Amino acid sequence: MRPVQGTSQFHPARGRAAAGSRTDGYSIGRKGCRVDRKFVLTAFGYAIIGLALGIYMAGSHNHKQMVTHAHIMLVGFVLSFIYGLCHKLWLDNTTSKLAVAQYYLHQAGSLALLFGLFLLYGGFVDPAAIDPILGIASIVVFAGVVLMKVLFKQSARRA
Ligand code: HEM
Ligand code: HEM
Repeated sequence: MRPVQGTSQFHPARGRAAAGSRTDGYSIGRKGCRVDRKFVLTAFGYAIIGLALGIYMAGSHNHKQMVTHAHIMLVGFVLSFIYGLCHKLWLDNTTSKLAVAQYYLHQAGSLALLFGLFLLYGGFVDPAAIDPILGIASIVVFAGVVLMKVLFKQSARRA
């Protein structure tokens, strides 16, 4: 029998088998493309890189990449982790186009921002050349926060 929305079989946070049969824009298939997991998995990727940089700074007594380390940990790890928690706890793991767009927007903005900071604070590029890229990346990260608010508002209207 086809499971009915709203029953425990359909709750995206439970049982992968039931999640595969949804067609209403919520948690999808067995391949595990759930937005909460995507965010948390990505967050730990940032944590590994950010902590490695922190350990390198501490070991080498060279703290010139402090700003890069701080933002990899905060914009990359902490913010991605918080977004993952939001999807798990409040947004029912929606895989609507807006949710997927928000995920990629945050990742694209963060990657550009963090790599740009690494190049800037490492002295690998002319600050004037990297400034516009950092500016655009910051606006993209900002847009990700705004979109998360929109997702929350949408989910409140559905509830
Ligand atoms: C293996 C663990 C870590 C190591 C070895 C490490 C190392 C460092 C070092 C050497 C600095 C520069 C301090 C200075 O020059 O004043 C720093 C700064 C900083 N770290 Fe870490 N860190 C670690 C974990 C973390 C974590 C987990 C976070 C956040 C989630 C974090 C966030 C920051 C921030 C925000 C700053 C800037 C602090 C300021 O503005 O004074 N770090 N870290
Ligand atoms: C659009 C994204 C962001 C931009 C463009 C940005 C920009 C900056 C800038 C220009 C500084 C001063 C760096 C310096 O001292 O030379 C700074 C410091 C700092 N920011 Fe951000 N920030 C962003 C997001 C965040 C977020 C989301 C957090 C926390 C969750 C955060 C936490 C901090 C902290 C703790 C410091 C002081 C540590 C340090 O000097 O490295 N930032 N940020």
